[in-house]
Amino acid sequence: MLQKQESPAEAATAPGAIPLVGHALRLLRPWSLLHSLPAQGDLVRLYIGRLPVYVVCSPKLVQEVLVHDSDYDRGGAVFDQVRTVMGNGLITCGHDRHRRSRQLVQPVFSRSRLPRYAELMVEHSTPVIESWRDGQVLDARAAMHTIIRRVSIATLFSSRINAEQFERLQQDIGTIAAGWLRRLITPRPLRRLTGGRQWASASKRVHEAIDDSLRSAGATGCPVTGATADVPEVLLAARDADGGGFSHEEIHDELISMFLAAVESSSTVLSWTLDLLAHHPEVQDRAAEEVRRVVGEREMGWPDVDQLPYLKQIVHESLRLHPPTWLLTRITTRETVLGGHPLPAGVNIAYSAYLLGRDPAVFADPDRFDPDRWTGAAPPRGSFVPWGGGSRLCIGNTVSLAEIVIVLAEIVRSWRWEPVRRRPATARVSMLHVPKSVRVKLRSRKEAVATTGEVR
Ligand code: HEM
Repeated sequence: MLQKQESPAEAATAPGAIPLVGHALRLLRPWSLLHSLPAQGDLVRLYIGRLPVYVVCSPKLVQEVLVHDSDYDRGGAVFDQVRTVMGNGLITCGHDRHRRSRQLVQPVFSRSRLPRYAELMVEHSTPVIESWRDGQVLDARAAMHTIIRRVSIATLFSSRINAEQFERLQQDIGTIAAGWLRRLITPRPLRRLTGGRQWASASKRVHEAIDDSLRSAGATGCPVTGATADVPEVLLAARDADGGGFSHEEIHDELISMFLAAVESSSTVLSWTLDLLAHHPEVQDRAAEEVRRVVGEREMGWPDVDQLPYLKQIVHESLRLHPPTWLLTRITTRETVLGGHPLPAGVNIAYSAYLLGRDPAVFADPDRFDPDRWTGAAPPRGSFVPWGGGSRLCIGNTVSLAEIVIVLAEIVRSWRWEPVRRRPATARVSMLHVPKSVRVKLRSRKEAVATTGEVR
C-alpha cells in the first residue's frame, strides 16, 4: 500500500514510513515530524500502522476543514477514547447533535454572566497567590493547576457545594486530571497498574457530586434563570428552538466535559506563560506596569480585562507557541476534495495549531517569543487556531482568555519570578502540549518597590 504509485492529485505521503508501522515511531518525536510536513505539500498523508491520517498543513485548507464541519466531523479513534471519559457532550458529539447542544450550552457563556465569573476568578486565585513566600521555588505547573481547579469548581458549581465537598472535589479533580490522558492511551487490561483504581474512585465521586448538584438545582422544579443562576441551573433551564431541554444525563456530560476542558487547557497555558515570562523579565515588568496603571491596588473585575491589551498579547503569543490542543482530528463524512486532493469518506484528518503557529510565512522569526507581534493586523484565517474555529470554535474562549489574563495580572502585580533552570521548559508528548516541568523562584514585587522605590 505504501509503495503504491500516487496520481498527481493525490496527497503526498511523508517520507520515512516503515511497512506495517508507518510513521508511528516518528510520532514519538512529533515536533520534528510536524515541522518536516509542509515541505511535502498542503495536505500530507501519514500512516499510523496501516491507518492513513491526512495532515492539513496550510492555513487556507485548515480554515476550509473548520468551516465545513458537516463534511469534516468530530469522530474517529481519538474522540471514541475521549468519549469514554467525557461522555457525549459538546466537545465529543458529532455534527448531528452539535447545533442543538451548542444552543443549549450557550447561555452558560452569555455576557450577563461574565462579571460574576470574573469575581469568582479573583476570589479563588488570590488566596493561593498570596500564600506564596518570597524566595520560594514554585512548581508552577502544580500551582496553576490548583488555581484553575479552584476557579473551575467555583464557576461551574459555586453555590451547590460546601467547603468540605469543595476540598474533596478539588482532590478528586486533581486525580482525574493527572490520570485521564494516561488512561486514554493505556490499554484497558493495564489500567489497574497505572493508578486506575484511584482514578475510578475519584471519577465515581466527581460524577456523584455532579449528580447531587443537578438534583439540588432541579429540586424546586421551577427553573432559576438570569445572571444569579449557577451553571447547573442555567443548563436545566436552557431551551432549544423547539422548546426542548437537556436531559439530566446530557447535562452531566456537558458539566464533566467543560470541567476537564477548562482545568487542563487553562492551567497548561498559564504554566507555559509563566515559563516564557521567567525567561523574559522585561516582558514581566512591562506587564506589571500595565496592571499597576490600570488596576492599581484595587480588586480586579471583568471590565479590566479589556483594559490590559499587553497581557492579552502575552497570552496570544503563549498560545501561538504552545497551544495545549496541539493536534486535532476530524473524520470525513463523505468523499470530498481538499486543496485539489481527493479524500475518501471515513478517513482521518488532522491539523496542528502548533505547526500553524510556527509557520514562518505567517509569523516572522516564529520561534521567538514576541508579544508585540500582536499589535498589528490579525494573522490570516486558519493560521492562529488554538481555540479551533468555525462552528466548533471553543465555546469557553472568551471566559478562558479572561481567566488567564486575570490570574496572570494577580500574579504579576505581587511577584517577579526567575527560572530555576537556564533552558526554557520542553514539552511532554501527550494528548495535550504540556510542559514537563516549570520551576521558578519567586521574589516579592511589593518588597522590591518598598526597598528601591522603583515600580518594576
Ligand atoms: C485556554 C484555554 C482553552 C483552550 C486552548 C481550548 C481549546 C479548545 C479547542 C481547540 C476546541 C476545539 C476542538 C476541536 O475543534 O476539535 C475547544 C472546544 C471546546 N472547548 Fe475549549 N479551550 C479552552 C478553554 C475552555 C474552557 C474554559 C471551557 C469551558 C468552561 C471550554 C469548553 C469547550 C467546549 C465545550 C468545546 C466544544 C465546542 C463545540 O464543539 O461546540 N474550553 N476548546
